[in-house]
Amino acid sequence: MTAIIFKKGEEETKVEAENGKTLLEVAHEAGVKLFGGCGGAGVCGTCRVFVDPLFVEKLQEASPEEADLLDILSNGQLNSRLACQIVVTDELDGLTVTLP
Ligand code: FES
Repeated sequence: MTAIIFKKGEEETKVEAENGKTLLEVAHEAGVKLFGGCGGAGVCGTCRVFVDPLFVEKLQEASPEEADLLDILSNGQLNSRLACQIVVTDELDGLTVTLP
């Protein structure tokens, strides 16, 4: 299990996440309100979050499609990612995910 912290404003939700699930799935299972308009297909951008910059290097690289979408939505901010495209691994233990 991997500890993930979802943060929205002052509110923090700490979750023990199962490896192999996406951050979007983990958020939904924990009752964290994160919209996922396309159901995790990586095309709508509504699940965009900001990850702790210290973890950016540990994430799987964004696909060209994700990178394009993020370019439009976030001006290429490096720690902006789509929650539905990030798969939980041991490496992400302690990751804070900030919801916009
Ligand atoms: S749910 Fe649509 S891009 Fe992630």
